[in-house]
Amino acid sequence: MGRVSFLVSLLSATTCALGAEWIGEVKGDYQCKCYSDNACWPKTADWSALNATVDGKLQVAIPPGAVCHKALENSAPGNQTNAAIATYNQAACSQVQANWVNEQYLTDHPIANLWPLYTNNTCLPTDNPDALCTRGFYGEYVILATKKEHIKAGVDFAREKNLRLIIRNTGHDFMGRSTGYGSLIINTHSFKEATFSKTYSGPGNWSGSVATVGAGVQGRELYRQAFKQEPPVVIVGGECPTVGWAGGYIQGGGHGPLTSIYGMGADNVLSFEAITAAGEYVTANAEKNPDLFWALKGGGPSTFAVVTSITVKTFPEVPVAGTILNINATHTNDTKVFNEGFHIFHNLSNHYTDHGMFVYFELSTGRLHIAPFVGPRMDEAKVKSVLKPLFDALDAAKIPYDAYTRAFPTFFEFYIDMFEDEQPNQNSVVGGRLFTQKDIAERSEQISEALLFANQPVPDTAGFSVGHIVNPGYGVPVVDNAIHPKWRNASSFVITNLLMVGDEGWATKQLRNEQQTNIVGKALREAGPDGATYVNEGDLYEPNWQESYWGSNYARLLELRKKWDPTGVFYTQTTPGTENWEVIDFGTKLCKKVT
Ligand SMILES: Cc1cc2nc3c(=O)[nH]c(=O)nc-3n(C[C@H](O)[C@H](O)[C@H](O)COP(=O)(O)OP(=O)(O)OC[C@H]3O[C@@H](n4cnc5c(N)ncnc54)[C@H](O)[C@@H]3O)c2cc1C
Ligand SMILES: *[C@@H]1O[C@H](CO)[C@@H](O)[C@H](O)[C@H]1NC(C)=O
Ligand SMILES: *[C@@H]1O[C@H](CO)[C@@H](O)[C@H](O)[C@H]1NC(C)=O
Ligand SMILES: *[C@@H]1O[C@H](CO)[C@@H](O)[C@H](O)[C@H]1NC(C)=O
Ligand SMILES: *[C@@H]1O[C@H](CO)[C@@H](O)[C@H](O)[C@H]1NC(C)=O
Ligand SMILES: *[C@@H]1O[C@H](CO)[C@@H](O)[C@H](O)[C@H]1NC(C)=O
Ligand SMILES: *[C@@H]1O[C@H](CO)[C@@H](O)[C@H](O)[C@H]1NC(C)=O
Ligand SMILES: *[C@@H]1O[C@H](CO)[C@@H](O)[C@H](O)[C@H]1NC(C)=O
Ligand SMILES: *[C@@H]1O[C@H](CO)[C@@H](O)[C@H](O)[C@H]1NC(C)=O
Repeated sequence: MGRVSFLVSLLSATTCALGAEWIGEVKGDYQCKCYSDNACWPKTADWSALNATVDGKLQVAIPPGAVCHKALENSAPGNQTNAAIATYNQAACSQVQANWVNEQYLTDHPIANLWPLYTNNTCLPTDNPDALCTRGFYGEYVILATKKEHIKAGVDFAREKNLRLIIRNTGHDFMGRSTGYGSLIINTHSFKEATFSKTYSGPGNWSGSVATVGAGVQGRELYRQAFKQEPPVVIVGGECPTVGWAGGYIQGGGHGPLTSIYGMGADNVLSFEAITAAGEYVTANAEKNPDLFWALKGGGPSTFAVVTSITVKTFPEVPVAGTILNINATHTNDTKVFNEGFHIFHNLSNHYTDHGMFVYFELSTGRLHIAPFVGPRMDEAKVKSVLKPLFDALDAAKIPYDAYTRAFPTFFEFYIDMFEDEQPNQNSVVGGRLFTQKDIAERSEQISEALLFANQPVPDTAGFSVGHIVNPGYGVPVVDNAIHPKWRNASSFVITNLLMVGDEGWATKQLRNEQQTNIVGKALREAGPDGATYVNEGDLYEPNWQESYWGSNYARLLELRKKWDPTGVFYTQTTPGTENWEVIDFGTKLCKKVT
């Protein structure tokens, strides 16, 4: 390291460091990845060679809205003339405009990110073709991988050339972790294969039914395929139809509607096929690379390896009944009445989880939408009896609401009927907290107040929350994996959002981040001191994030990151081992601090 700091002090701000130490720009105390304005950026011939290796699957990354603009500026990286690319196409533009809130359309796109804040809200699908389209925080090139060899080629190229590497599955990540300025992107969306088997003989103490699921398979399509088996089976997945399953979801831990009875998504993984930062194909399970196996189960996305497929336990289908409940302006405009209604509902979190329920809810000022309460292995009468204390308490307090309950013979039919699709392309700064059984029992009032406060923490702001009442420790009390041990004592996990327009300047974005972390986040932490946070749905600036996201598992995760990715081929903010890494220069260059 001595040589490195020597170089740092010698080299000017824009010079590339040569020699074995660093291929890339050195800026003050930072060693940066190599970008298109650096001499180390691959030449056209290098990109062509990569393109040949990946069977022609390399494309220049074009933002989805570019077809509505005459040109994408400052493009063709590697072409030293850095010319603009003509992009306008009226028909394609109409199509993008029509699908701008269609999750499936956006997840199918090579590079789209569903939360434009993380693309710098650049190159939107405008009606004015003369409007400037720049790449913003989208990458430069994308490999539309269809084979694992293509992924390996991308990892090797990024490592050798020291490029920012982004693994992009669905673009769903609302912490912006599947887009990045100046990057080479590997798109895993076409890894759609899923195979099912009634028995398993591999390592892991499980001989029951399993599925092997490709990296690109999405939630609802996985549920649908599981349901088609004879007999039908279920897999623990998320609530959202288009979130990827084997990508960010599992590597962050993965909660979902069946978590109360079958645990977290990551609890059920038996084996991973993956490609390491060194470009090696590995199997990770209880026998082969057990340390990597452990880390990939909740240790953070895009951190230890690129996963190509996962073998996971499947379970018999179960009957499910559920309830949808609303309290909103249809019922009352009295804030006090509404807030009391929310408190009565949330106060019973331990009660729902103690009966094996999962509950999904949305909260904003004057609107509570619980859709749905999920009662696995329950019929209508059972759900109603579990929810009786809620209805009784609402009635006693004269809180108006309406609710209906339905039962289905299977989880799949329940899921299709009672869960709703979400809208992408909203701008918000995200935070959140997991409240434990203990905190709900002891501090329920403060927790409700903190959540209501998050709807408008500061005058002239607006927020909303998405809540999941869930306890993975109810059905699966002990599992040895990387997720925060507090999940086993969870009761309610809530995501808070502070809304943005999207075109705010840098200073306002920083202010909203700061408000999320230090005003909303502070209120949540004080209300739930026994709790934790969730790496897939949390605050990028969470103080003490190592402890908050992983608790006592962090020390081991840090060691494993050093072992499996010692040079930082992978990066996503607030994941193990990224302490010295930072995206500098207004959200652009990824650099490592060297002093
Ligand atoms: C509407 C919505 C609903 C959600 N519901 C749930 C839910 O019910 N339960 C839950 O637990 N979470 C939920 N999430 C959060 C979700 O788990 C994360 O956003 C997750 O990161 C999405 O993973 P992805 O692969 O689909 O997305 P992407 O945005 O494509 O990727 C997310 C991260 O995973 C990395 N990654 C992707 N594929 C791979 C791979 N093959 N190998 C290594 N790294 C990879 C990416 O680099 C990135 O860092 C939800 C998110 C949204 C937007
Ligand atoms: C890669 O090769 C394919 C097939 O020849 C071509 O269509 C594509 O434009 C090439 N990509 C780049 C970035 O040149
Ligand atoms: C570089 O850009 C110029 C101007 O658009 C173009 O004429 C040329 O063909 C490009 N070169 C390569 C290698 O793509
Ligand atoms: C991001 O957006 C801001 C505000 O529009 C702009 O000033 C900045 O140049 C953009 N950054 C990039 C990398 O496009
Ligand atoms: C294997 O599973 C059985 C039944 O679930 C359990 O009793 C046993 O302790 C497990 N063994 C190991 C080594 O995990
Ligand atoms: C309010 O509740 C009613 C049911 O009473 C529901 O139909 C409506 O969609 C809800 N409105 C909002 C904004 O959630
Ligand atoms: C609440 O206010 C809205 C808008 O003024 C109105 O339409 C609605 O009827 C009111 N609700 C009740 C219960 O009075
Ligand atoms: C919250 O629940 C506790 C029991 O756990 C109960 O004593 C208290 O009255 C409840 N508060 C509200 C507002 O429902
Ligand atoms: C979970 O709760 C139990 C009982 O209160 C406690 O003994 C245990 O330490 C808790 N686990 C964690 C990780 O907090």
